[in-house]
Amino acid sequence: MGLGYKEIIPLVQDEISNTTYSGSPGELYDPMNYILQLGGKRLRPVTTLLASQLFGSTLDRALPAAKAIEVFHNFTLVHDDIMDKAPLRRGKQTVHEKWNDNIAILSGDTLLIEVYNHFLEGEYTNLSEILKVFNMTAIEVCEGQQLDMNFETRTDVTLAEYMNMIRLKTSVLVGGSFKIGALVAEASKENADLIYEFGVNLGIAFQLQDDYLDCFGEPEKFGKQVGGDIISNKKTFMMLKAMELDQSGELDVWLNNKNVDSLKKVEAVKRIYTSLKVDQLAFQLMDEYYQKAISSLHKINASEELKIPILEFSEALMKRSS
Ligand code: IPE
Ligand code: IPE
Ligand code: MG
Ligand code: MG
Ligand code: MG
Repeated sequence: MGLGYKEIIPLVQDEISNTTYSGSPGELYDPMNYILQLGGKRLRPVTTLLASQLFGSTLDRALPAAKAIEVFHNFTLVHDDIMDKAPLRRGKQTVHEKWNDNIAILSGDTLLIEVYNHFLEGEYTNLSEILKVFNMTAIEVCEGQQLDMNFETRTDVTLAEYMNMIRLKTSVLVGGSFKIGALVAEASKENADLIYEFGVNLGIAFQLQDDYLDCFGEPEKFGKQVGGDIISNKKTFMMLKAMELDQSGELDVWLNNKNVDSLKKVEAVKRIYTSLKVDQLAFQLMDEYYQKAISSLHKINASEELKIPILEFSEALMKRSS
């Protein structure tokens, strides 16, 4: 019998609480500790541990890799928040708001380098294989982030381009987290590839939901500024669908007018979304990708019993409000 995801979360939390960076100057190290100890769902390290358990590794062995991936995720958040001009993260001030942009850039860079120290702590015999997957994933995340920024000022983004962008900025890291757990357990190539596919499709569903919550989430639970994507003209699925379906021309006015009151824009665009029912279309697409993910999970050649915690984790993720 393996552990359920609810039993794995505290193991990850403990490992992260025990991870503090010390050194001087404080302006470099304090923000690193701040973001890492701010909370968050810790879903990526949980996926690494769940995958390592599925393929027969001890959780202890996978913990350094799981921690490395969470630290990488936190690095991406610090830089993402500068790029998105986000004021709030996990219900608290973002690093660049609390300190400044330069501090957020450099403490983010240092977190990224710490990732490699954490991978080294694992003393993995197949470290180079693990790092190849990690490095490819990390570069793809940067590609996705650049596309996301490029799309803010474009009005001709296609659905295929959006899907590719979210695959890169978010989903490959979810896929990579599962795959690295599989590699730690020295799973077969076929199984490692299948769990990657599973994670990528789950990650697409996850980002579709993040985009939904960015508009319709409850601010206290969501922990980020609600409406931030609308304010910065992000080309989310709902935005693209609404641009396609809106006959009134009202959405174009909100997208093109630079001197608008942000609150009014958010309210108006949300109204357009609900009247065109693009929120419901987003849920349909989310479910399609969730089902795709589950079908890859079924194909994995491993203990059906140990797949249950992964299924339960995935179901819970689809019902989240933060
Ligand atoms: C936020 O990730 C960034 C996205 C890819 C949407 P999470 O929603 O996992 O953020 P935390 O770690 O729980 O705060
Ligand atoms: C984030 O996409 C992807 C990465 C952080 C790499 P978002 O910009 O939607 O993430 P949030 O909503 O700020 O967490
Ligand atoms: Mg972003
Ligand atoms: Mg963001
Ligand atoms: Mg978002």
